Amino acid sequence: MKNLAVLVSGNGSNLQAILDAEAKQQLSAHVRLVISNVDGVHALERARAANVETLVLPHRSFATREAYDDALGQALRSANIDFVALAGFMRIVSSRLLEAFPSRVINIHPSLLPAFPGLHAQRQALEHGVKVSGCTVHFVDVGCDSGAIIAQAAVPVLDGDDEAALTARILVEEHRLFPRALQLFAEGRIELEGRQVRVRNG
Ligand code: GAR
Repeated sequence: MKNLAVLVSGNGSNLQAILDAEAKQQLSAHVRLVISNVDGVHALERARAANVETLVLPHRSFATREAYDDALGQALRSANIDFVALAGFMRIVSSRLLEAFPSRVINIHPSLLPAFPGLHAQRQALEHGVKVSGCTVHFVDVGCDSGAIIAQAAVPVLDGDDEAALTARILVEEHRLFPRALQLFAEGRIELEGRQVRVRNG
């Protein structure tokens, strides 16, 4: 069974969906470690409630992004982590971490990439007046939300939606999509060729 680390910064509802999938045996990977760059967040409580080891690594304690990512890499290696899920981890990771875990860091983003990368994706979608948005699971590369796309799910943007309403509608899909995509990876069914991701039949 592959060891998964989940990196978080906040509420951790995606972490919860991943933990629930493991508990229901819908994810053949073990969440071995949860790392947060922010202390006191609800995601850490969710991890502890599931008896998962936690680590708080505040980014402000490190002089550079590279030094921070070296510390992340060390923690991941010493926990024998095979792959990493960024579940609301609000930090850009550097090539240092990606070189230590090549094609093994997977992010979820609350838009249909390549539309609306970066912060406040739902606000960007509303400001652009799009009628469809959603979420994307993708491999992380050195760019901002620019890596090869593994899976996407769409939701309608409805008249009168505010940021909270759209965020909530997208989150429902995130909680379905992310565990499924991680399961495809855990099963070794994802093939990456350049920017193309192919899913082999199970
Ligand atoms: C999710 O909507 C996730 O897609 C987003 O943060 C939220 C975390 O929610 N991530 C990003 O915006 C990354 N750029 P959660 O803590 O409840 O899982």
